[in-house]
Amino acid sequence: MRQRLDEILTNNYLTNNGPLVQELEHKLARYCGVKHCIAMSNGTVALELAIRATGLQGEVIVPSMTFIATAHALQWQGIKPLFADIDHATLNICPKSVEALITPATTGIIGVHLYGRPCAVEALQAVADAHQLTLLFDSAHAFGSSHNGLRVGNFGDCEAFSFHATKVFNTFEGGAVTTNDDELARRLRLMRNFGFEGEDNVSYIGTNGKMSEVCAAMGLTNLESLDGFIANNRENYHRYREELSAVEGISLESYDESEQSNYQYIIIRVDRAQFGKSRDDLKSRLESEGIMARRYFYPGCHRMEPYKTLYPDVSGKLPVTESFSEEVLALPNGNQITPDEVSWVCQLIREFGSGR
Ligand SMILES: Cc1ncc(COP(=O)(O)O)c(C=O)c1O
Repeated sequence: MRQRLDEILTNNYLTNNGPLVQELEHKLARYCGVKHCIAMSNGTVALELAIRATGLQGEVIVPSMTFIATAHALQWQGIKPLFADIDHATLNICPKSVEALITPATTGIIGVHLYGRPCAVEALQAVADAHQLTLLFDSAHAFGSSHNGLRVGNFGDCEAFSFHATKVFNTFEGGAVTTNDDELARRLRLMRNFGFEGEDNVSYIGTNGKMSEVCAAMGLTNLESLDGFIANNRENYHRYREELSAVEGISLESYDESEQSNYQYIIIRVDRAQFGKSRDDLKSRLESEGIMARRYFYPGCHRMEPYKTLYPDVSGKLPVTESFSEEVLALPNGNQITPDEVSWVCQLIREFGSGR
């Protein structure tokens, strides 16, 4: 990283599609096995530009069980998010729920590969094709994951990634859109840079979505260690699995071991009746020991503003989302978490459950 920083300062090429951004795009496209990777300043801008460049308007169907940015990226651009429920088994957007929401004003679907586990890609594509809708994916959680052996980044019309500091692969702040569509990639590149095509020729409405060289340097450096990060996450995940398997009322979401996964998210459901304590009690207990456990996601986008006020009728219509959001807790994982710390978290959970 230091060497790359020196290079940036020596060359004084700080941003504007510099050599490190280009190198990162090239390497990320190769890693995902996709034709185009367009680096962006963050995942939210990547989503906003993906939405805009594919011409979405009117209404777009999204899961409510996602980070608020998925819904905001639509509403911010005057597009109404229609909140779909999730599938009980996969926790990803439910294709049947999607189909039931389609109206003449619907132009697209955004699937979210929640916790890095790919959506029902084929079923969603079939719904999109049957109704002539655009299909995008918010792939913020899923860098490095695969579906049917193909890396996430290749599905739908395009996919938007976040490379935020909390993600398995990070560029401090950053993101990207990946696509196999040449024309869409061209539009995204224009839109990312104010619509500039050449020095003083603007051919499109655009914004500033550029990634800086320093962020690209972080990305190139992290990419060199990505396999190690994932191996560490996987080891921690298996330790959690082993040490929590016998705890009544705690179930850990699993990863498909026949696919590639980034194993970033350790998601448990707390069944209050069986565990003897609520999810929120457990969260407080862990926090009292300095352990950050997050309600990831609670209470669902449709129960947050402005959506709660704008679309009050949705509340109560997403039963799986609403019940899951009451039970979910994300436990710590990542490079900073050692195996002993995982064991300690598990021990606290076991003791708290049995101390009823
Ligand atoms: C599912 C999802 N979508 C979008 C985003 C937004 O990404 P960023 O923070 O890079 O803007 C996030 C960030 O955490 C996310 O988890």
